[in-house]
Amino acid sequence: MLGLSIWCTNLNLSSRSLAIVLIVTLTLVYFSYSFNACLLASISRTLQQSNLRNLLSLTTPPQSQDKTIALNGSSTSSSSSSSSSTTNIDGSDSLFSNSSSDGASPKYQLLRQQGLRPLRNLPSTLIIGVKKSGTRALLEFIRLHPDVRAAGSEVHFFDRHYQRGLRWYRHHMPYTIEGQITMEKTPSYFVTKEVPQRVHHMNVSTKLLIVVRDPVTRAISDYTQAASKKADMKRFEQLAFVNGSYSVVDTNWGPVKIGVYARYLERWLLYFPLSQLLFISGERLIMDPAYEIGRVQDFLGLKRVVTEKHFYFNATKGFPCLFKSEARSTPHCLGKTKGRNHPHIDPNAIERLREFYRPFNNKFYQLTGINFAWP
Ligand code: A3P
Repeated sequence: MLGLSIWCTNLNLSSRSLAIVLIVTLTLVYFSYSFNACLLASISRTLQQSNLRNLLSLTTPPQSQDKTIALNGSSTSSSSSSSSSTTNIDGSDSLFSNSSSDGASPKYQLLRQQGLRPLRNLPSTLIIGVKKSGTRALLEFIRLHPDVRAAGSEVHFFDRHYQRGLRWYRHHMPYTIEGQITMEKTPSYFVTKEVPQRVHHMNVSTKLLIVVRDPVTRAISDYTQAASKKADMKRFEQLAFVNGSYSVVDTNWGPVKIGVYARYLERWLLYFPLSQLLFISGERLIMDPAYEIGRVQDFLGLKRVVTEKHFYFNATKGFPCLFKSEARSTPHCLGKTKGRNHPHIDPNAIERLREFYRPFNNKFYQLTGINFAWP
């Protein structure tokens, strides 16, 4: 500036001209500084937004390499080299992990920088049952949606830990940002007497998802699971009937009892209108998962993001599997405890059980307004 002034003096400029030159120079300096600052801020914002999108975009199915059979019947393939990371937002990295992270991870710090405050919320949606009907498959499939965040393991708050209070329950929920649904699944909720009232007490508008399956197959599945944990378990036929003959069904035996769905549903309907319950067919969840997940997304008011493109049929497993999930970027199926081989059961025992369940099934169809057409 001093140089400029000497230069002006040498040129014999009037003080008025000098002032004009000074003002113009200062204005130019000011605009040039503002322009550069704006440019830098805009570049930094763009970078942050793209990072945020990367964090939240967990759902795009990968391009494929290994040959598999897509569920729509066409031949397709699956990738083991997906480029984007599918680690959970909360930092947990196992398909069945417990999402109880502390929220202090760099990912959360990034979200906070965006002005988004990840919080643990009580669930607005529960998968309440029914045990051995496909509850895990339902949870893993629906949580592919970027707007669904779920507790990884069964929390058992309403049946086992109710005395610990809602604060304890909330602490077991994953972090969510605005617009995301918090979900939890504990299949024993459906059959536990006190649970409907307790859920109602937490939130009268809780949405309830219930997967149901032919109660005879469900009972066999339940038995198979129990037998896998106990080497000297009696045969199914011995446990399902009283006195060893097939005349009297043992309705006190858990695997049989749980299949009387109408009885439990009546209790839930005392507290919740049918419109807050969605019934998912366990059979159709295997045959056509995209269809059932489409219904679930509609029910929850979510955009249909999870579609048939996310699934393929794994012939070895005999079940639908995922190209990628919230936790893993490579094709994978549910664990080996899901989709077990069932033992051979005497067809006469099966027929007798079908006869037993028929009136209860009809009652269930009547209550739900859906004919599941179980044999
Ligand atoms: P089985 O193991 O008897 O075949 P839950 O998750 O409620 O315990 O239900 C387990 C059942 O889910 C399995 O019972 C299986 O039939 C069913 N299921 C539904 N979709 C599945 C899938 N994609 N992979 C494995 N099992 C699935």
